[in-house]
Amino acid sequence: MSQRVVYFNGNIVPEHQARVSIFDSALMFGDMAFEMTRTFNGVAFRLRDHLERLFGSLRLLEIECGLTIEEMEQVTLKTLEANKPTEVAEMDWQIMHNVSRGPLGLYKSAVPNEMRPTISINCWPLITHMGSFAPNYESGVKLIIPTQQAIPAHLVDPKAKTRSRMHYQMAQLQAARNGQGSWPVLLDPDGYLAEGTGWNIFLVSDGELLTPEPRNILQGVSRKVTIELARDAGINVKEINLGRYEALQADEIFCTATTYSLVHASTFEGQTIGDGNSGPVFQQLMRMWKKLATVDFVQQAEMYSDGLTAWEDAQN
Ligand SMILES: Cc1ncc(COP(=O)(O)O)c(C=O)c1O
Repeated sequence: MSQRVVYFNGNIVPEHQARVSIFDSALMFGDMAFEMTRTFNGVAFRLRDHLERLFGSLRLLEIECGLTIEEMEQVTLKTLEANKPTEVAEMDWQIMHNVSRGPLGLYKSAVPNEMRPTISINCWPLITHMGSFAPNYESGVKLIIPTQQAIPAHLVDPKAKTRSRMHYQMAQLQAARNGQGSWPVLLDPDGYLAEGTGWNIFLVSDGELLTPEPRNILQGVSRKVTIELARDAGINVKEINLGRYEALQADEIFCTATTYSLVHASTFEGQTIGDGNSGPVFQQLMRMWKKLATVDFVQQAEMYSDGLTAWEDAQN
């Protein structure tokens, strides 16, 4: 099989040849935007939505990347196609866009030819991410509230997907101290649920679907899809302020994100949600998600899990 390639500043190059300068503003300040898209059956899912969010993030950061959204889309699809022959045809992919401001002006004498935004697009087989995630679909995840809070929009707007993510990392460390596999839900400074470190949260209460209003959160593409599907199913959806109290009364809680789409929570702050298993609204949305994706991504994750060790061995 041929080797994976990445788009790097205008060229498609072997993955190991793409090197970012140590003087890059991304390394100095986390000064960059990124995106993560996935494929279902080899087709990039909601790529336009992801690219629109990427360009929205870049606009907020005042980074002019030099590509139009159409050009970014074209090179994304080209990079994906160039990588497909490196894996079996059934493999799905995560597609990562990283765009930084480029090296700081102070160091231009060290990297005179690199004084422009640093753009990379890499494609990685989903077997590693989803293979290790697979057991969560069955067990659900345990949610806890860490002491680390979300950063509110008037400080650094979380609607932009940036690499300034130390607060998420701190929340993860705090959650890890709470027991293996706990996922942190950050509160905003008003004490309302904001989001997880890479996912959005939904509650189901009396048949209604509730999710934090889109103020202090990254507005996930999977969140948007979930809202659309719920409305298609005639479920009432509310984007409102939700606290710890509301979460503890909820009949169901679940999380959404690009790679796994949706996963139910079994506990919240140590208390079992429902009977700990996924509830009827989640199950209905899961069925709709799979239909939309054209692939049973839960079964796929289990298959990845079974094949992961062999895949990793084959990489060495
Ligand atoms: C902080 C945060 N919230 C929510 C999400 C979910 O967004 P999406 O559904 O677009 O993956 C992400 C995804 O990485 C994230 O980083």
